[in-house]
Amino acid sequence: MEFQFDRIIDRRGTGSNKWDNMEKYFGVSPKDGLAMWTADSDYPTAPCVTDALHAAADFGIFGYTGDYSGYFAAIRWWMQTRHSWTIEEDWILTAQGLGNALALCIDVFSDPDDHIVTFSPVYHEFANKTARAGRRLTECPLVRDGDTYMLDLEDAQSRMTGREKVLLWCSPQNPSGRIWTPEELRAIADFAARNDLILVSDEVHHDLVYSGESFVPMDIAAPQARPRLVVLTAASKTFNIAGQHTGNMIIPDSALRATMQQRLRTLNYDPSGLGVQMVTAAYSADGAAWVDAQMDYLDGNRAAFDAAIAEIPGVHSLRLQSTFLAWVDFSGTGMDFDGFHARIRDDARIAASPGPSFGAGGESFMRFNLAMPRARVIEAGARLQSAFADLQ
Ligand SMILES: Cc1ncc(COP(=O)(O)O)c(C=O)c1O
Repeated sequence: MEFQFDRIIDRRGTGSNKWDNMEKYFGVSPKDGLAMWTADSDYPTAPCVTDALHAAADFGIFGYTGDYSGYFAAIRWWMQTRHSWTIEEDWILTAQGLGNALALCIDVFSDPDDHIVTFSPVYHEFANKTARAGRRLTECPLVRDGDTYMLDLEDAQSRMTGREKVLLWCSPQNPSGRIWTPEELRAIADFAARNDLILVSDEVHHDLVYSGESFVPMDIAAPQARPRLVVLTAASKTFNIAGQHTGNMIIPDSALRATMQQRLRTLNYDPSGLGVQMVTAAYSADGAAWVDAQMDYLDGNRAAFDAAIAEIPGVHSLRLQSTFLAWVDFSGTGMDFDGFHARIRDDARIAASPGPSFGAGGESFMRFNLAMPRARVIEAGARLQSAFADLQ
């Protein structure tokens, strides 16, 4: 089946955060700018998802929903088929997206002034949500090793104050695209146990894995973590349906789950009916075929972008194992952050995510979202070459 990854769709004026807020957040006009920041995609989702929406619209009744057995069955099927992960229906709690799930985990499993542990550079919302909740951050730097990042758990241990309650762990890792090995996952689970931390394993990027790489869920690598484990998954990145705010907290341990469930009841949480229908349609054989095609397409985007960046002296795009988020190091240009960011913003007219927002270790980086038609990726590469032309 033909998919539409190459189709250029003008999202301006549709309420899109990425396009309609780029001027507000980055000072890049959508008139001639390229939006390469927030992590959604500029091509349409899988046809099986839009077909389900069309059918729902034709049905025309959008009343209360209450039987989620089809939704849970689809999630279980997906985890089993795509990740060889067997989960039980009652382990699955829903949240309004994973941003919401992260905030809930901080809220439920820690108190104000407690510390939240992260390994940086990492998804900037881990730190933002920690600060907004009145918690403190214990940031443990990852160690850069060429195109990848390594853990230094001895250093991390030395940073523990005894007031840490939750570890927000990103696997695969945003922004570097790193896929952690089962040994590293076990080491993280042991670290969480040693420090008595609730281990929140955010696995939202788990489907966006390039050919030749393999992702292992935390629950498979480290089943001993179950009494403290919350796994976050969603179809939002995989299928570009983040605007529907439908995500899952998969909690194998019944006592831990009951604590979260109690808060969800208090807050009167129910999933969105349309979101549930879209995810149910997405987690199917047709959805899987679309994801495979998407990863082939993204592989081409990654190659085109990296080839263009390789032509710019002093700039390096790290080799991605997963995600559509290129993590680009500008340290070799000799410029400081303001210097290279100004060129990207003002000369290339690209709104990308500033590396420093991902915490310690992000100072010399920018993150570029490549989930767009290839022609735009090529255009972005050409703009960046021209913005740094004097370095040639
Ligand atoms: C690691 C990570 N977690 C959570 C989210 C937010 O997910 P959602 O759109 O489901 O709220 C993102 C979005 O970029 C992410 O990269």
